Amino acid sequence: MSDPIDRLLDAAETGKSIIKNRDILHFTYIPNTIQHRNTEQEQVTQSLLPILKQSRPSNLLVYGKPGTGKTLVVKKVLSKIQERVKKSNFPIKLIYTNSKEETTLYGLLVSLGRQLELDEKELPSTGLAISEVFKRILNKIDEKNLNAIFVIDEIDYLAQLVSKTGKDILYQLTRANERLKTGSLTLVGISNDLTFKEKLDPRVISSLGEEEVVFTNYNVEQIKKILEERITEAFVEDSVEDPALNLCAALAGGEHGDARRAIDLIRVAGEIAERQQSEKVTIDHVREASLKIEENKEETSLKSYPLHEKLIILAIMKANGSSTGEIYSLYKSLCKSVGRDELTQRRITQMLSEIELSGIISGRLIHQGIHGRTKKYKLTISTEMIKKTFKDDLTLQDIV
Ligand SMILES: Nc1ncnc2c1ncn2[C@@H]1O[C@H](COP(=O)(O)OP(=O)(O)OP(=O)(O)O)[C@@H](O)[C@H]1O
Ligand SMILES: [Mg+2]
Repeated sequence: MSDPIDRLLDAAETGKSIIKNRDILHFTYIPNTIQHRNTEQEQVTQSLLPILKQSRPSNLLVYGKPGTGKTLVVKKVLSKIQERVKKSNFPIKLIYTNSKEETTLYGLLVSLGRQLELDEKELPSTGLAISEVFKRILNKIDEKNLNAIFVIDEIDYLAQLVSKTGKDILYQLTRANERLKTGSLTLVGISNDLTFKEKLDPRVISSLGEEEVVFTNYNVEQIKKILEERITEAFVEDSVEDPALNLCAALAGGEHGDARRAIDLIRVAGEIAERQQSEKVTIDHVREASLKIEENKEETSLKSYPLHEKLIILAIMKANGSSTGEIYSLYKSLCKSVGRDELTQRRITQMLSEIELSGIISGRLIHQGIHGRTKKYKLTISTEMIKKTFKDDLTLQDIV
């Protein structure tokens, strides 16, 4: 038998690859043409146009379900504007940040500040009061006479980052323009959480949403067109079978037309096909890819839970279908085993509801006559998945 490493290396050298350019399948890739989104591209451009005349555009809120092209369209509009003003010496500054990638409001503001070229001395990464950070950013804008546009992508995450004082800063940020003397600041918020309006201060929403652009859902046919174009660019000719393409479009288009999911599916299916040294991506590869992506999602969300949530999940795993009270006593004994202080039953009840929202467990209300009612919880994922994922957590190793 040949050496297993050599066998794979040989195959990689001589074997056919199906994917000719992997980068094109990455979510940050900006395709040359954006299909089905002319209206939205026009609306976003219209809204930001005043910057070219050196006046201040209104704040803008961009909404739509995940994978409907919001980030793509906004980035493309920004890069086109940037291209235009490069030739002139307009003092404009277009800044993009994603609040999902920041853990604090301070971090987000520093990220904005750095892009305005405030260095560590002018704006230290820690230690200032938020209001001071904010003041320094505004001063810089005035000092350089800048017309600035701040894009805050996934702005709904900001609602989680902000404390009470943060809320106020967010409000001030949307109204910053009133404090600027010579520069201007426009805020562009992007969100896929259609309920986030309820999470943010209504004052923030009203000044942020001076203008709004809503991205509608793609249908299966549109997803298919987007996929076809991406496949032509990224894959070797004729290497994706039609049924495979159709299944990807159907799976991703099923709920609300998530183009990201469609592209992920075809990328993973392509990788699976290459690994099997197949010459074409078939419908089976897509099915396998879909399973793999689902599993990864569960694994990632399990991994990302803090310790006490993990202990609760383990308690449910040990007594599947038990009531809140039973889960709480099991949880307490698990806390003892790992040498941690337990949280209150009230807090645990709250956490159970939060975990339920993620879909990993499901709860059912049970009426117990004069004893009132209780909620019983069941896992919706396999115990193997939990064991496999928690096994890597040093604190949990022994009790898994
Ligand atoms: N009309 C389109 N034409 C070509 N590619 C598209 C189109 N719409 C979306 N895509 C691609 O689909 C993926 C997801 O798009 P994008 O990141 O813009 O979604 P989003 O609306 O910002 O989603 P989320 O709310 O989850 O951030 C990207 O790879 C993007 O290039
Ligand atoms: Mg996005």
